[in-house]
Amino acid sequence: MKIKNICCIGAGYVGGPTMAVIAQKCPDIRVTVVDINENRIAAWNDENVEKLPVYEPGLSDIVKEARERNLFFSTDVDSAIDKADMIFISVNTPTKTYGIGKGMAADLKWIELCARQIASIAKDDKIIIEKSTLPVRTAAALRDILDNTGNGVKYQILSNPEFLAEGTAVQDLLNPDRVLIGGDIDTEDGLQAIQSLSEIYERWVPKERILTTNVWSSELSKLTANAFLAQRVSSINAMSELCEKTGADVHEVAQALGMDSRIGSKFLQSSVGFGGSCFQKDILNLVYIAKSFGLNEVADYWEQVIIMNDYQKRRFANNMIQTLFNTVSGKKITLLGWAFKKDTNDTRESAAIYVADHLLNEEAEIVVYDPKVETEQIYSDLDYLKSRSKEANRQSLKVANNPYEACKDAHAIAVLTEWEEFKHYDWEKIYDNMLKPAFVFDGRNLLNMEELIKIGFVPKSVGKPEYDAKSFSGPAIAS
Ligand code: UDX
Ligand code: ADP
Repeated sequence: MKIKNICCIGAGYVGGPTMAVIAQKCPDIRVTVVDINENRIAAWNDENVEKLPVYEPGLSDIVKEARERNLFFSTDVDSAIDKADMIFISVNTPTKTYGIGKGMAADLKWIELCARQIASIAKDDKIIIEKSTLPVRTAAALRDILDNTGNGVKYQILSNPEFLAEGTAVQDLLNPDRVLIGGDIDTEDGLQAIQSLSEIYERWVPKERILTTNVWSSELSKLTANAFLAQRVSSINAMSELCEKTGADVHEVAQALGMDSRIGSKFLQSSVGFGGSCFQKDILNLVYIAKSFGLNEVADYWEQVIIMNDYQKRRFANNMIQTLFNTVSGKKITLLGWAFKKDTNDTRESAAIYVADHLLNEEAEIVVYDPKVETEQIYSDLDYLKSRSKEANRQSLKVANNPYEACKDAHAIAVLTEWEEFKHYDWEKIYDNMLKPAFVFDGRNLLNMEELIKIGFVPKSVGKPEYDAKSFSGPAIAS
């Protein structure tokens, strides 16, 4: 079946960029991205493409090219469903915050609502594609709803998980390692649906990179890929503490490991802890699924990845407190970076939120600077934790829009996101305006430590040996 009309439900970090690239590569297909969030759709339609709700390098140019040609953003969900031959479901699937599976299972409320809405609107056959990351066998639930509440319309359900990483979404979409399509490979209709979706990707992805599996393998592969990636980060973070104690350098250890082609060099960057909307949520989901089948050892194995990550964030904050003479009460501390990684304005599960919360509990006075994250987002991330009143959060944490102002009179600076611009600041100027000793805690191993030491800073990095234990010594702490 030749696809002419695509609808994507959910204009978020996945739906928006993915549909923009499909529209750019398939000018003959009309792509409509719908969302119930009016502000989000208005931002996608903003004449100034620098104001798109999702910041991704390269995305604004693609949107500029395709928008109003064959790419549309709308709140009219019903009409887009009605016209579409193919519907991508790309809504949020956060961890459940209530009831059975609270704190572990994925909340499928929004997925179910989409399925019911499709069933009530559709008048002709449709291919439904799970784009959101979902627990294994969600497709079965979708089928149940669609078949039992629909208007006798025939549906094919495919799983086509998205592997893009934020910050590199456009590159990942244009040049994916693989495209995974799970479908009903035992029926002619199922194979045809897979073929229709495959033909879309084949416009720019080499055919050998398009992988077809059964639906359950596809659903589980997405969870597994994220679990493996997160596990690598937790593994290197576990080694970072051992490096600090033994005089080894985690960067050198990672390099030595990464050159083993069986291990590979990616995802071995030790940090303040991983964040993002996927890793924690997907592992918790995996743990929940394993437990629900009674596979307790499997569940415990994967849960440890999260336990290690929580520990790494806590350890980083505790190390700051300890270094600042065991108290941060009333001290100005500057956090450089709030996003969960560079080149995105997404803050979901960012390590910065937890580090800030920990320091606020110790009565620190925090100032945050992030080049892309909005002030209101920072406060809403903190408020969500419910650790203190909204007023208290606004009282003790301020957001600066200039990094030099942010660092002025600070006792310490913590780098929590690896934004490139942090490397190029005038660190001498920052040093001159700070209280001494001037501490820098580099949670991303981003800055040039030797230069900072020459200026006079007392720097601390994750997984690096204490500088006074190396050949050159740092300045005396209490000078
Ligand atoms: C991840 C997967 O990479 C992607 O395939 C999937 O589709 C969604 O989840 P994302 O969360 O956007 O993507 O970013 P990713 O680059 O994986 O980083 C996740 C977190 O791990 C970030 O906080 C990042 O800073 C951290 N990280 C990553 C490290 O601390 N060290 C590393 O070596 C790599
Ligand atoms: P992701 O990172 O997976 O893209 P986001 O939270 O950024 O997740 O985006 C999901 C989007 O889906 C949100 O903008 C939300 O408003 C939208 N959404 C959720 N449920 C529905 C629905 N039933 N109909 C339309 N849009 C929806």
